[in-house]
Amino acid sequence: MTQTLTLRRPDDWHLHLRDGAMLQAVAPHSAGFGRAIIMPNLVPPVVTGAQAAAYRDRIRAALPPGAALDPQMTLYLTDSTDPADVVGAFRDGIIRAVKLYPAGATTNSASGVTDFNRVRPVLEAMAEAGVTLCVHGEVTDPAVDIFDREAVFIDRVLEPLRRATPGLRVVMEHITTSEGVAYARAGGDNLAATITTHHLVINRNAILAGGIRPHYYCLPVAKRESHRLALREAATSGEGRFFLGTDSAPHPDSAKLQPCGCAGCFTAPNTLSILAQVFEDEDALDRLEAFTSLNGAAFYRLPASEDRITLTRRDTPPTYPTHITAGSETVTVFDPGFPLFWHQEPA
Ligand code: NCD
Ligand code: ZN
Repeated sequence: MTQTLTLRRPDDWHLHLRDGAMLQAVAPHSAGFGRAIIMPNLVPPVVTGAQAAAYRDRIRAALPPGAALDPQMTLYLTDSTDPADVVGAFRDGIIRAVKLYPAGATTNSASGVTDFNRVRPVLEAMAEAGVTLCVHGEVTDPAVDIFDREAVFIDRVLEPLRRATPGLRVVMEHITTSEGVAYARAGGDNLAATITTHHLVINRNAILAGGIRPHYYCLPVAKRESHRLALREAATSGEGRFFLGTDSAPHPDSAKLQPCGCAGCFTAPNTLSILAQVFEDEDALDRLEAFTSLNGAAFYRLPASEDRITLTRRDTPPTYPTHITAGSETVTVFDPGFPLFWHQEPA
């Protein structure tokens, strides 16, 4: 018997769409989502309200006609961000949030924050205006082991930052550890966490066992199996503080397949099919909608979508393209390593 699942239209609370030819190629693959928080780590980064408005227009132009996607823009927090520009862009409906990258933590983060004292006035203005801070939670101290950087960030940076600005609304982006789950759970109503599709699927063995697999390398790097299980438990719990942020992060194969390849998994094309399988495997299909379509909107104080999408479980899995083309480049689509039976019906 064919099984179907109807959900309110999912939102993606952490998405990289890039710019130029890459934007043209990847935007259609996220067009079926409702709201998407668009990451500002372009080169150069999106740092002012005016730049965010211009980027939003480029995204809209790259979407196919009738696309549901409503880009929710973010500003890239730097040591010299102007609090008035942030609050003004938020009040004008140009931005939804501000993104904090510790300088050097990940792809295109060289302009990130080097001194948290310098951004205190911005964080205070955000707390007062109700602007959410999306946090890339990894320390950059080279003395800290890469697998410990999220847990250490929580103790060294996130907890002091939240204590210093108690009214600030914070999303811990792409948590990858049981420490991240526990910290998010212990916070009040001002704290939430996104979880990616790929961190529900892979642990660190996927990157290294049997050979180096660059397409499974992302930041924060996947951790050991116990952490993946903690993430699956959190995502499928139905708890309002956990919601989907795919962190779909396309890079050309020419940049990933290098002696020093860059970080990011491109999951936009098959994210919903993978998530439905994960939730089915956890016997939690009835909680998929909370994770993809309800919890994030509620945290961002937006109404849940009134649109519906339908997923159908086929007996024989449909095949998905393993690559897409962006200009003259090829981008590899994330391979979950298991067949995908769930398929989104065209609207
Ligand atoms: C992201 C990218 O490529 O922009 N990469 C990644 O591995 N997730 C940056 C980020 O979100 O850390
Ligand atoms: Zn990201």
